[in-house]
Amino acid sequence: MAKKDVYDIIDNKYDKHIKREQLIVDADRFKTYDEVFDQQNLDNIFRLMKRKKIKTVECPISTGKEANVYLAKTFGKDAAVKIFRTSTSTFGAFLEYIEGDRRFQRIDRSHRGLIYTWARKEFMNLEAMHEEGIRVPATQSLFRNILVMDYIGYEGKPAPQLRVLDAEQEEWEEMWGVVLDTVEKLFLECELVHADLSEYNILYDGAPVFIDVGQSLDLSHPRALEMLDRDLRIISTFFEKKGIKEAKKEAESLKLELLATLEEDDDE
Ligand SMILES: Nc1ncnc2c1ncn2[C@@H]1O[C@H](COP(=O)(O)OP(=O)(O)O)[C@@H](O)[C@H]1O
Ligand SMILES: [Mg+2]
Repeated sequence: MAKKDVYDIIDNKYDKHIKREQLIVDADRFKTYDEVFDQQNLDNIFRLMKRKKIKTVECPISTGKEANVYLAKTFGKDAAVKIFRTSTSTFGAFLEYIEGDRRFQRIDRSHRGLIYTWARKEFMNLEAMHEEGIRVPATQSLFRNILVMDYIGYEGKPAPQLRVLDAEQEEWEEMWGVVLDTVEKLFLECELVHADLSEYNILYDGAPVFIDVGQSLDLSHPRALEMLDRDLRIISTFFEKKGIKEAKKEAESLKLELLATLEEDDDE
């Protein structure tokens, strides 16, 4: 599938926003733009602008439970700005994913502290994956609860999630291969488990791009293997529906293979 065709399947509701190249100079306007732009977040965005990390914040790409994602212009390539909500009510769950990860020994347990740590965790996970050659958005910068990364998209249209992608059988097969390779590489090279792998968190820009890795767990985390099992079950169910008959079986054998490497380590 040509890159252009991929983006043609996205509805063009974003287009009307894209054309409005605007600086956030009018804080009041942005306050009503979206509730995520409270004074604190506006200050944080201004800070990123002053540091020349971003130039303008454009249209929203996604409004989620824990974070909103916006397209931003920078002085280089376009960026996706992920702003973690400081008003989120699900932050209790954050602690569970942070605690037990050997990379976070001393945890600031205040509400804000946890959210900043969460953003830093996603930043670190993206960097670790990028370093191992996994296709993830490259990081650009991090400030408090705001993560700036490369924008995955084409002419203002964000790349589609796999769940809305219309692809040929052969392409699904190819993507399935990439997903299996990625889970393996994540585990063996990065010592991480994605922990929210699904057709929502893989974008397609001609090949799969893995996103949303804030919750990704270091293998030192007590729930890492449970999450590996869940990731593989969820993503193989999706690919099975896309006609990959052996998806579940292949996922199961990858899981066993990966678990076996842990036993080998124990024997050493
Ligand atoms: N770097 C990016 N480039 C383009 N779109 C992105 C990028 N990161 C996220 N998105 C879009 O925003 C959505 C939500 O981002 P995600 O990281 O999955 O956060 P959430 O926790 O809200 O699921 C994604 O499904 C994707 O459509
Ligand atoms: Mg997501």
